[in-house]
Amino acid sequence: MRSLSAWVALALAAGVCAVPSTTVHKVKESVVSPRGWVKRAPAPADHIIELRIALPQPNFDELERHLYEVSDPFHDRYGQHLSKEEVEELVAPEAESVHLVNEWLASHGVYEDGLTRSPAKDWVHIKIPVALAEEMLRTKYHVWTHDASGSSVIRTTSYSLPEHLHDHVELIQPTTMFSHMKSLKTTFHFSHFSESAKGSASVTADAPPINIPSASGGHVDASCNATVTVTCLQQLYNAAGFTPSTTNGNQIGITGYLEQFANIQDLQSFYADQRPDALNSSFKTILINGGQNNQSLAEAGAEANLDTQFAFGLTFPTPGTFFSTGGSPPFIPDDLTPTNSNEPYLDWLAFILAQKTIPQTISTSYADDEQTVPASFAKRVCNEFAQLGARGTSLTFSSGDGGVGDGEEDPALQECFTNDGRNVTRFVPLFPPSCPFVTAVGGTIHVPETAVFFSGGGFSDLFSRPAYQNAAVTKFLNKLAPGTYKGLFNPNGRAIPDVAAQADNFLIFLGGRSGLIGGTSAAAPTFASFISLLNSARLSAGLPPLGFLNPLVYAIHAAAPDAFNDITTGNNPGCGTPGFNATEGWDAVTGVGTPNFGKLKEILTFGLGSLDLASSS
Ligand SMILES: *[C@@H]1O[C@H](CO)[C@@H](O)[C@H](O)[C@H]1NC(C)=O
Ligand SMILES: *[C@@H]1O[C@H](CO)[C@@H](O)[C@H](O)[C@H]1NC(C)=O
Ligand SMILES: *[C@@H]1O[C@H](CO)[C@@H](O)[C@H](O)[C@H]1NC(C)=O
Ligand SMILES: *[C@@H]1O[C@H](CO)[C@@H](O)[C@H](O)[C@H]1NC(C)=O
Ligand SMILES: *[C@@H]1O[C@H](CO)[C@@H](O)[C@H](O)[C@H]1NC(C)=O
Repeated sequence: MRSLSAWVALALAAGVCAVPSTTVHKVKESVVSPRGWVKRAPAPADHIIELRIALPQPNFDELERHLYEVSDPFHDRYGQHLSKEEVEELVAPEAESVHLVNEWLASHGVYEDGLTRSPAKDWVHIKIPVALAEEMLRTKYHVWTHDASGSSVIRTTSYSLPEHLHDHVELIQPTTMFSHMKSLKTTFHFSHFSESAKGSASVTADAPPINIPSASGGHVDASCNATVTVTCLQQLYNAAGFTPSTTNGNQIGITGYLEQFANIQDLQSFYADQRPDALNSSFKTILINGGQNNQSLAEAGAEANLDTQFAFGLTFPTPGTFFSTGGSPPFIPDDLTPTNSNEPYLDWLAFILAQKTIPQTISTSYADDEQTVPASFAKRVCNEFAQLGARGTSLTFSSGDGGVGDGEEDPALQECFTNDGRNVTRFVPLFPPSCPFVTAVGGTIHVPETAVFFSGGGFSDLFSRPAYQNAAVTKFLNKLAPGTYKGLFNPNGRAIPDVAAQADNFLIFLGGRSGLIGGTSAAAPTFASFISLLNSARLSAGLPPLGFLNPLVYAIHAAAPDAFNDITTGNNPGCGTPGFNATEGWDAVTGVGTPNFGKLKEILTFGLGSLDLASSS
């Protein structure tokens, strides 16, 4: 038997005479066989794949410090958002990383003219044939098909990089990411009005208004209990009569993915029905990376129509933008024509961060099961959202439509098992709402409001609980009976959602017809709309926009509880459990509650001093 030192000596000798260290590859990332995906065929060698290479951001902690300072209403720097250039300086990679990655790319024939970089140089984007990617990453790409949806992507379960590059590359995608981005819309309820576009005319009820003390004028139309319109939301959230400015620079944005586009003709029908003063107005559509905008009525997207009709209807005449990002499957395995297989969030982020001016409020109703997103990817994308916050943009995301389950409203489709190889039961939060730098919006239903059963809520397994929600979330956890759902969730994780808004029975127009639609998809643009109105009030008063909302949301919740309508009934079942309960104070179903625009506007335009007063009294 050889001694240990002899082994070491042998190994060292082998190392010395082996190939130069630059070509020693080591696995950078790998995943266990992704559940729900079937490996089909080797990827066509000449298929063009677009790789995004993330270089580490050594000063990210510093950016995070700035973000929290400018977002903390009790800090001297509150509202002093960073410029594009300041953010870029804080996320810039080391010169050595840029150099070593360049050297590696050049050794494979990829030079400066064959790549693009983010303005901060922290991302490199290359378009190369699969065969070259396989050589560079010492891997083999395959076509994989998602069982449930039938969509296909080109991915691998593992990739390698030269050892000396491991500290200079944070991640490369698409490689090991097998998530299945889904639109968080729930079921359609066209049965009521499928005959024609009768709109709200068919739902006007004679019943007396419902008394809601926090609402505009103290009551809400009786019809709002079953059919939600722009007017209902203005009443319920105490914003009736407020008109935002068109000239103070305020803007609102909605993102669209999965080939969804918003139909202008449907928007006009919606305006004619619910917002006649907005008739003939429209929004700007920005197509990113092959995003779709086929205005044929038959192909209007339910999600895109819902998001744009309500967001732009609630915030009219605020200029609105719809960002349509392409790059999702389908990829046809037998078809050798190059097709997109990008990670669309990265494409959208690359686009938006390169813009000089960004809408102050942006809402997204798409998400993935957190566990299907590689940790490296989730952390990096979350950090990109932090950059947007530091620049003064508020980001809202739907919290999910599966309660504590995995975002699928239909329990039969829920998969509440870990995909880490252990296959144990687990509540499944969604990403990006689980990112601490975005605002997760849960859902309510009816008037008076109660939590809607599908409202996504729970705790991240990837991100730990941020300080801003410590007090509120600890109170909630302390109320749970000892041992509640032990092992099913991470009580130290970032808790979801932060806030809530109405999420069902929204009356929209789609393909020329009106009907009801629901989902936290409806809640996120609704909450974003009231934030946009607050931003408008602040900009008109010469104050900066709200930016990253969460530290402010929890501070206001603690100091002026009636600025949010606390939701204390309902729960969010999932994974074969009744889920969590909506309770007094923050809860994992509706967060701190739904907005009271009038109260929030008072606090946020009369100066945050009123917060101090409230908290010390
Ligand atoms: C609102 O609708 C729900 C469900 O149909 C019903 O239980 C509730 O009584 C209604 N509320 C009012 C004030 O009519
Ligand atoms: C919208 O445009 C139509 C057709 O051009 C016009 O008849 C109508 O008066 C316009 N409505 C408003 C509110 O501007
Ligand atoms: C939009 O879709 C329709 C129906 O599939 C199709 O006939 C039309 O060519 C498409 N238009 C564009 C511009 O892609
Ligand atoms: C995981 O466990 C569940 C319940 O025991 C079972 O239905 C499912 O098939 C398992 N999945 C895998 C991939 O083993
Ligand atoms: C929710 O409330 C019900 C009724 O009070 C209670 O029995 C149940 O234990 C609560 N669930 C949780 C998770 O706290």
